[in-house]
Amino acid sequence: MSMERGSDPGREPPAYTPALGHRALTPLYDAVIALATRENLWRGRLVDAIALKAGERLLDVGCGTGSLLATLARRTPGASLVGLDPDADVLIRAKRRAEAGVSFEHGFLDGDFVSLHAPFDIVASSLVLHQTPLETKRRILRHMREALRPGGRLCIADYGLQASGLMRILFRATVQTLDGVEDTQPNADGVLPALMSEAGFVDIEEIASVPTATGAISVWRAR
Ligand SMILES: C[S@@+](CC[C@H](N)C(=O)[O-])C[C@H]1O[C@@H](n2cnc3c(N)ncnc32)[C@H](O)[C@@H]1O
Repeated sequence: MSMERGSDPGREPPAYTPALGHRALTPLYDAVIALATRENLWRGRLVDAIALKAGERLLDVGCGTGSLLATLARRTPGASLVGLDPDADVLIRAKRRAEAGVSFEHGFLDGDFVSLHAPFDIVASSLVLHQTPLETKRRILRHMREALRPGGRLCIADYGLQASGLMRILFRATVQTLDGVEDTQPNADGVLPALMSEAGFVDIEEIASVPTATGAISVWRAR
């Protein structure tokens, strides 16, 4: 597993895995995701699940190059969108394609971020939790709940249960090769809905499971 350190001088920040597992691959991220993951399909389902309305505030945790935010901003003018990511390099790419109504924050989702920026109507995240350690998945989901207003919505797209032999083989050959097995296996074993429930979310629904050349990507929504 490739873990990078942030760039804050004088302080050892938490580690994170860059977008494609290795910092040198980040320039290829958008093309690889588009070609290898049937991105239009799963991201379209995520955007539909989010059902953003003008005037709503949304947080995208681990926004990466900003693909989700750009789509949402074009589709729903008048919404207020915040992208958060610990990788300063990927945020430079995200800012290049920024649309009106979108702002970016550098860092992790933690108590300080929640105190400063919450509440949000919607917290979204795509392809982030599969590349974090199990305890980090728990911590992110807990802070996601804290960041939401009462009745707010959670929408997540990520690698979920790899139910068939083919999906398990493809997931192992691609995502687990880039991001390592330790962090990714809990997703492949289908742990995310239980972790959402443990974090206090209710009405957890898997609304899609899209087979791709890199494994199955699920879309969930919860309250
Ligand atoms: C595979 S990329 C996904 C980017 C984007 N959400 C998308 O759908 O294309 C994962 C992103 O999560 C970020 N990330 C990794 N660990 C994180 C953490 N603990 N908290 C928040 N973001 C994290 C990485 O910096 C990276 O930009």
